[in-house]
Amino acid sequence: MSNRDISILAIESSCDETSASIIVNGKVLNNIVATQSVHEKYGGVVPELASRAHQENLIPVVQEAILSSGISKDQLSAIAFTRGPGLMGSLLVGVSFAKAFATALKIPLIEVNHMQAHILAHFIEDPKPSFPFICLTVSGGHTQLVLVKDHLEMEVIGETQDDAVGEAFDKTAKLLGLPYPGGPLIDRYAKEGNPKAFKFPVTRMPGLNYSFSGIKTAVLYFLRDQLKENPNFITENLADLCASIQYTLVEMLLIKLKEAVKQYGVKEIAIAGGVSANSGLRETLAALARRKGWNLYVPKFEYCTDNAAMIAMAAFYKYQRNEFVGLDVTPLAKMKL
Ligand code: KG4
Ligand code: ZN
Repeated sequence: MSNRDISILAIESSCDETSASIIVNGKVLNNIVATQSVHEKYGGVVPELASRAHQENLIPVVQEAILSSGISKDQLSAIAFTRGPGLMGSLLVGVSFAKAFATALKIPLIEVNHMQAHILAHFIEDPKPSFPFICLTVSGGHTQLVLVKDHLEMEVIGETQDDAVGEAFDKTAKLLGLPYPGGPLIDRYAKEGNPKAFKFPVTRMPGLNYSFSGIKTAVLYFLRDQLKENPNFITENLADLCASIQYTLVEMLLIKLKEAVKQYGVKEIAIAGGVSANSGLRETLAALARRKGWNLYVPKFEYCTDNAAMIAMAAFYKYQRNEFVGLDVTPLAKMKL
């Protein structure tokens, strides 16, 4: 390591994953993630418990990232952290730690927007999309169509007006009696089911916007009526229910993506965020891309869900532009792209 090498420690603590990563000269060396299982029995993330778990997990996670990187903390050039959007208490743990560590090491601080980082996860490994590209960012907190003009220049061209698609997966899964987070379980059961078995309404919003709150209510009323006739309806039809719900959600996502492609004339297409791990979305989108001649970019699974490697990647671009922040920086629960 010479003085000219850029090595950054990045920290992610916006929701329920505590993560740290080291990046050297734009190459991610590791991505340590501690997943919080404490929320499972509550059917959703409990903010107070998330903050406490970050407090317990953060130092061990950072230690492991530094140790396994083979570089010493004195060789770090900067500390990066997720400033938002996310849960305030969770963000505070990461931001406070980053400030303290940067102060102790006398190195600069870099703030990162979590949603921007999800998109920049595409630059961790090859193949990388070329600019401009359209990214469909789908997570538990967000659903956005983003026109990406450069590493740090992005424009939201459509987004959900209520629930995120991940929330729709998780909330409908809860109605089916599945534990949190239900998205991956719907994905798993859907593999055995018929996606056309039940029909749920596809909500169409103006422009490139989304709405995912309707499906939850539709599934709730549908199940209530069916359970009156047959108390075992859910268990007897679980795979078909999961496949039909997943089919409807994927359909809604892709209708607007197709419109965005038409509107902007861009054929470089990427997906990001936790829901991009969904196999129904991946398969349908891959088939669509082949048919339409799009170049499709899907990150590795570990870079789809919340992780610090994507924060490190974003921080590397910011470091090169000298985009640092002072110690008076505060987290933002809501943060625009
Ligand atoms: O990006 P992420 O890890 O955290 C947020 O920033 O929200 O996304 C988590 C969301 C959850 O709603 C989870 O259920 C969903 O991603 N998810 C999935 C799958 N894997 C994760 N949803 C459907 N199918 C999956 N395979
Ligand atoms: Zn996320």
